[in-house]
Amino acid sequence: MSRLGEMLGAYQKRDPAARSKLEIFLLYPGVNATIHYRVAHWFYKHNFKFIARAISQWARFLTGIEIHPGATIGRRFVIDHGMGIVIGETAEIGDDCLIYHGVTLGGTGKEKGKRHPTLGNNVLVGNGARILGPFKVGDNSRIASGSVVLSEVPPNSTVVGVPAQVVKINGQPVQHQGGYVDEVDQVHITDPVEDEIEILNRRIRELETDLARCRRRHPDHVHTADEAADDTTKE
Ligand SMILES: CC(C)(COP(=O)(O)OP(=O)(O)OC[C@H]1O[C@@H](n2cnc3c(N)ncnc32)[C@H](O)[C@@H]1OP(=O)(O)O)[C@@H](O)C(=O)NCCC(=O)NCCS
Repeated sequence: MSRLGEMLGAYQKRDPAARSKLEIFLLYPGVNATIHYRVAHWFYKHNFKFIARAISQWARFLTGIEIHPGATIGRRFVIDHGMGIVIGETAEIGDDCLIYHGVTLGGTGKEKGKRHPTLGNNVLVGNGARILGPFKVGDNSRIASGSVVLSEVPPNSTVVGVPAQVVKINGQPVQHQGGYVDEVDQVHITDPVEDEIEILNRRIRELETDLARCRRRHPDHVHTADEAADDTTKE
């Protein structure tokens, strides 16, 4: 009971929209899914795999959150919004973690045995992030929304992008030596459309010159005053 109380307290702390514990208990899909998971996990550990799986699927039907009963989840776990979440069989989640909707803690399909990630304590996983593979995400790290994380994340860091890169450690920005930012000249930028128009203009001028030359060579061609002057200048 005290574990349930502290989980509801964590929702109150993490979600500014959360009001009473009763409301959170009755109406939050994350709470619903986690309670089902705890029951399913008990059956899983006692080798009632079918019942465990059935409970997990029922919770998925109710909440859109699929937590495999074999996963290991710590205390004060918060799922904000829920929907579209998948937590794999060998995933491990520490205490005080927060995940948003659309998160996958999955495998790459290449591993056997331990296939899913391990989140340390106090990890935040933004909405739509995918963490794929059996590596560790260090304590207090933040995974930005929409990232695809494919390798170990050090503690106290922020990772961003596809594939995700560490952009901050201990609150300090990380400079990627020889990375994109260093390589690209961000001052002398040319407009590709302008470049293309300049190439076309040059080509039109060349074609006009060729055409004029052909006309002049034609036997019926009568030279204009400008052409005559032009020919005189060239001579
Ligand atoms: C990653 C996050 C936790 C912020 O962590 P932080 O350590 O405070 O990092 P910062 O905000 O200082 O961002 C660091 C850099 O990453 C960039 N960044 C942050 N989140 C990003 C994202 N999702 N995608 C791309 N870049 C992102 C920032 O623009 C910043 O870049 P800069 O240094 O060039 O300015 C936050 O951006 C995030 O994604 N939270 C998830 C929230 C969520 O899922 N909400 C759903 C509510 S319904």
